[in-house]
Amino acid sequence: MTCSTGRGTQLVADLLGLGPLPEAQALQVFAAGERLAGLAMRSAASTVLSPEIIAQARPIIERMTREVPRTFREASADTLLGRCRELGLSIREASGLATLMMVAGTETAASAMGRIVALLHDTGQQHALLADSALLPAAVWEGLRVTTPAPVIGRHVRAAVTVGSRTLSAGDRVLLLTYVANNGAGPFDINRGYVPETRQLWFGAGRHLCLGAALARAEIGFLLQSFVDIGRPWRVESRRYGARVLIPSYSALRVRLSEGAA
Ligand code: HEM
Repeated sequence: MTCSTGRGTQLVADLLGLGPLPEAQALQVFAAGERLAGLAMRSAASTVLSPEIIAQARPIIERMTREVPRTFREASADTLLGRCRELGLSIREASGLATLMMVAGTETAASAMGRIVALLHDTGQQHALLADSALLPAAVWEGLRVTTPAPVIGRHVRAAVTVGSRTLSAGDRVLLLTYVANNGAGPFDINRGYVPETRQLWFGAGRHLCLGAALARAEIGFLLQSFVDIGRPWRVESRRYGARVLIPSYSALRVRLSEGAA
């Protein structure tokens, strides 16, 4: 999945105003984001990070945000970091946003891309897509529902509330099982249509709804469009599952286009 990870990281770097990154550096930033997300995995039950986790995270973040102070000073106001400066945010706040974007905007989209390409192959539904490109937006939507790259979302309870038979108290920590909720509607089916119960819960909901949702859909759509344009079915030759990762993903997925048309 080298191609989608490197390009996705470059895309986020462009949004931030960091400018072009050599492919090798983009891949390094992606890998650093993966390590950082892996550290978060061990803190899902609490919002308090242990000193050991902070000590491990600090050098990773320092490497990832090395270019942020210069960009923050110099970038034009139509980049994210330039806009942060114009709004009067501190470098520390802008670095925090840059780190969030480099993880939230890269790992998730790369996970979805590989898994949707594999799902279309494994279920044989690539043939329907190749025969009718009008199904492409539905394939992106349905692929995001079934893969749900952010499988859980953590929240703190602000005030006592009863949910079903349970009473939650202020300060309690809850994990929302978005993967389970989204997949309740059934298996991957690009003809399924809109599921009103879950809307687009794979991008969260409410005030923290994913800011990159439109961009992520466009990235995945662009990838699938390139398969449609070629017009030949593909075969998954080999795959390796990412182990001990926060965002379930293939660490390697090798696909080969068949010789003939669909
Ligand atoms: C398939 C790809 C993506 C998925 C599945 C996804 C999923 C999510 C989810 C579930 C949340 C809400 C987290 C919460 O409520 O705690 C979120 C928030 C966020 N996402 Fe995405 N995301 C994707 C791609 C992107 C991209 C490409 C960007 C930016 C370039 C991005 C930027 C953000 C940001 C900045 C937030 C925080 C919003 C806030 O707290 O107000 N995401 N994303």
